[in-house]
Amino acid sequence: MLEIIAHKRDGAVLTPEEIQFVVTNYTQGKIPDYQVSAWLMSVYLQGMNFQEASELAMAMRDSGEQLHWPAKFLPIIDKHSTGGVGDKVSLILAPILAACNLYDPMIAGRGLGHTGGTLDKLESIPGFDVALDDAALQAALQQAKVVITGATTELAPADRLLYALRDTTGTVASIPLIASSIMSKKLAAGISGLVMDVKCGSGAFMKTQPEARELAQTLVAIGKAAGIKMAALITNMEQPLGLAIGNSLEVQEAIACLTQQGPEDITELTLTLAAQMLVMGDKAGDLSQGHQLAQGTLRDGTALACFKQMVAAQGGDVAYIDDPSRLPKAPQQITITAPKTGVIGAIATEQIGMAVVHLGGGRLVKEAAIDPAVGIVLRHKIGDAVVAGEPLAVVHANQVSPELLQDIQACFKIQKNSANLGPLVLDTIL
Ligand code: URA
Repeated sequence: MLEIIAHKRDGAVLTPEEIQFVVTNYTQGKIPDYQVSAWLMSVYLQGMNFQEASELAMAMRDSGEQLHWPAKFLPIIDKHSTGGVGDKVSLILAPILAACNLYDPMIAGRGLGHTGGTLDKLESIPGFDVALDDAALQAALQQAKVVITGATTELAPADRLLYALRDTTGTVASIPLIASSIMSKKLAAGISGLVMDVKCGSGAFMKTQPEARELAQTLVAIGKAAGIKMAALITNMEQPLGLAIGNSLEVQEAIACLTQQGPEDITELTLTLAAQMLVMGDKAGDLSQGHQLAQGTLRDGTALACFKQMVAAQGGDVAYIDDPSRLPKAPQQITITAPKTGVIGAIATEQIGMAVVHLGGGRLVKEAAIDPAVGIVLRHKIGDAVVAGEPLAVVHANQVSPELLQDIQACFKIQKNSANLGPLVLDTIL
């Protein structure tokens, strides 16, 4: 292990055997945390080429159970996002896929830092179970074609161990470590193809396009090396997606999108990702056909019906989907107003995400319970003209300090001149 640490420290390219040695022996408890910490820091500082990142992902994939699906479910085309604010795409996308006859056992995560987690959002639906075991997962998939659940402890255990160590050694923000971590779990889930939504901007972990592109290229390279179909879209996260941020509020917005009453940006991004997946899964000949097919499922109500099927298959109470006003609601709604007249030039999206965490919608410590009802609903987005005193957003809270309300108001940069947001999809890496 000492030699492998020294190789990476001195900038060498590690051999597959060296990478395998670290992953296997660490998972079996044969190498101490301090040596693996030093190795992770050397990877963080020296980087890894695509081949090393692929070998790391595959060694982590092979560290535990791998899921295999019956032929009738194939091809399984999945989507994964690197994490954003107001990103409720999976809740709308999964039922669209089911309505188009694609199966997807989507393994989703919890909120991380300022970003929201799909599992936390779904848990605001009373009864919804995000901890399905293998048998329950198979049964729910058979019933609903799509399932959204958490990773079991048997899936890529090396990643869980390495991630916990990275979290406490300042080595999370490394492109090869992030890419191999994400891909190890996706590959272990036995998918045939993956569309990555790599978020870029003030609300994303990757703030700049060069960084986002490097992450996207690394993810695509790992997936291709492992023999699955890959595409990565680099998408705009300069402002929250849609208007709602917060678990129950986002479920309500997802239901609005499923009934064609949701905000345009989140609906359009979902249809764009769906189009990529439908082409990848041979359900559409090209992206425009895929887009139309996906849109048709919103128009004719089949996507909404599939969402209800998924909720029912995972133990959720469908009455809350039929009447979303019954979903958890915070006792206070406080309006934040514009301090001056002008145009919204920027939204500090990471800070908006953190404000929702502080309201109780995310975790400040690992064990914290989430309050599903709290959050923020925007009234305006980048490029909108506002008049002093006009509502900018509504804060849904149990209790909230005047300082936090001021912080939320300060997230909106109001300027004299018009603002330019840029496109929703910044680039596609195939
Ligand atoms: N998500 C993951 O699964 N792993 C990372 O390292 C970062 C985000």
